[in-house]
Amino acid sequence: MKKIVIDPITRIEGHLRAEVEIDENNIIQEAYISGQLFRGIEIIMKNHDPRDAGLLAGRICGVCTNSHFRAAISSVEDAYSINLPKNGEIIRDLMSLALFLQDHVVHFYHLHLLDFVDVTKALEADPKLTSKIGHKYSLRPYANSHAHYIGIKEKLQKFVKAGKLGLFSNGYWGHKAYKLTAEENLLLLSHYLEALKFQTNISRAIAIFGGKTPHPQSIVVGGITSVADMLNPQRLNDFIFILKDAKDFIDRAYLPDVKLLTCAYKDEIKAGLGKANGNFLSVGGYQFDEENNLFEEGVIYGHDFENVEVFDESKIRENIERAWYDGDNICYTDLNEDGTLKTAHKDDKYSWIKSPKYDGKMMECGPLARVLISYQRGNRFIKPFVDEFITECELELTDLSTTIGRNAARAIESAYISEYIFKFINRLVENIKYYDIDTWSRYQFEELTKDTKGRAFFEVPRGVLSHFVKIEEQKITHYQVIAPTTWNAAPKDLQGQRGAYEEALIGIKLEDPSKPLEVLRVLHSFDPCIACAVHIIDARGKELGEYKIHTSC
Ligand code: NI
Repeated sequence: MKKIVIDPITRIEGHLRAEVEIDENNIIQEAYISGQLFRGIEIIMKNHDPRDAGLLAGRICGVCTNSHFRAAISSVEDAYSINLPKNGEIIRDLMSLALFLQDHVVHFYHLHLLDFVDVTKALEADPKLTSKIGHKYSLRPYANSHAHYIGIKEKLQKFVKAGKLGLFSNGYWGHKAYKLTAEENLLLLSHYLEALKFQTNISRAIAIFGGKTPHPQSIVVGGITSVADMLNPQRLNDFIFILKDAKDFIDRAYLPDVKLLTCAYKDEIKAGLGKANGNFLSVGGYQFDEENNLFEEGVIYGHDFENVEVFDESKIRENIERAWYDGDNICYTDLNEDGTLKTAHKDDKYSWIKSPKYDGKMMECGPLARVLISYQRGNRFIKPFVDEFITECELELTDLSTTIGRNAARAIESAYISEYIFKFINRLVENIKYYDIDTWSRYQFEELTKDTKGRAFFEVPRGVLSHFVKIEEQKITHYQVIAPTTWNAAPKDLQGQRGAYEEALIGIKLEDPSKPLEVLRVLHSFDPCIACAVHIIDARGKELGEYKIHTSC
């Protein structure tokens, strides 16, 4: 058995280390996933005014700022039983949903695509043929003219002639696992560049209601502060205009590109490459009319899609058996005498990430879980988006539980959100039209309960996010976060149950162990955010709300 260490995994947020053991056929037999960055925002939050929780928690991550900002404020609102006015909820949803689109597009093109696109091979492409391929996956392909592809090719040639590929340097170019044709490479690469503009524009949309992004400022306990923006038709129009543009890109570039990738790698999908344990978790949410949510809540075990159980938050436990915590203390023990990092062993601790479990099981959350659970629970709005994709690509629903399938679920979800986000805008406009302009629930902070606790659960781009707060004498005394990547990148438990990242790597064959491209593909397909994932255990409290923190090592 040979061990390969990849540290750090690049093109993600934060520091992730992967160790894999391969047999004589270069097939992965065991994997250890490790969060290498100690955080500690919970310590900083202690003794602060609960109304500041959002601005402090927003600093957990530089990417997921809005998600933590909102979840922190919501957990404080839950603690004080403060209900939001309708407009406050809708504007928060608009910011969150725009963030889904930003995150998903950036993930696919800028964080993951180069695992599949060989930049150097695109130089051999025939621009005319590239344009033809564009028509294969979309009726109105995005920026698909012959001349456009000539321009992209020239740009690339200039990079190569100058002897530097700029942001495209350091790839495993020429690796045998790259399967796309020269033309397919050029087509996807051209959308890589277009997606940079998408990223800028959608950030502007979030900033319309957020004041700025990243780190929006407009959510306060009880409501939102972007009242003037909400009441200004020009600002609403700006938001709508950007979202229409975003939908255009998603429908004509992102979704067709993922279909292209799915078709090119269908043999790997059918072979189940990148399948994790099949335990899925979603808390649902995003109500767009009186009765319906964008996503359903539920739990699936072991790919048993016919039986979706109801989500029950009391079944969540956090374990630290393999994490660098020991009861109440931090116990970082993995340095050799010379200061280098020890490689992980079965019985060791090897990560700053804890292992949350649901009913004793390691779970996977994220777009794949949301899409599967919503579809299987009969959400009739998401159904046509899923059916269209799997029919066109000749897949079964279970095929989505793979490396490429996770990307498919993310693209399906983006197409779905970019269509239904307009229902949220319509609801807002209807409210305002009928003189409901409330944006804040009035309360006197000094008169609120002094000692209380609260929690908030949200679906955010990478999966289930939960925040828990305990307040004593109007100060935060305990704070705890379980982020989506905490679920997915969890280290093993004492029984040897692997986290989703680890399980998805087992059985993967490496073409060339010195260039472990296949490992990157699997891990990137989850969209890791390690800055989000690492959260310390509370030093004093072993229990927060109904949540038991299991501390035995
Ligand atoms: Ni994050």
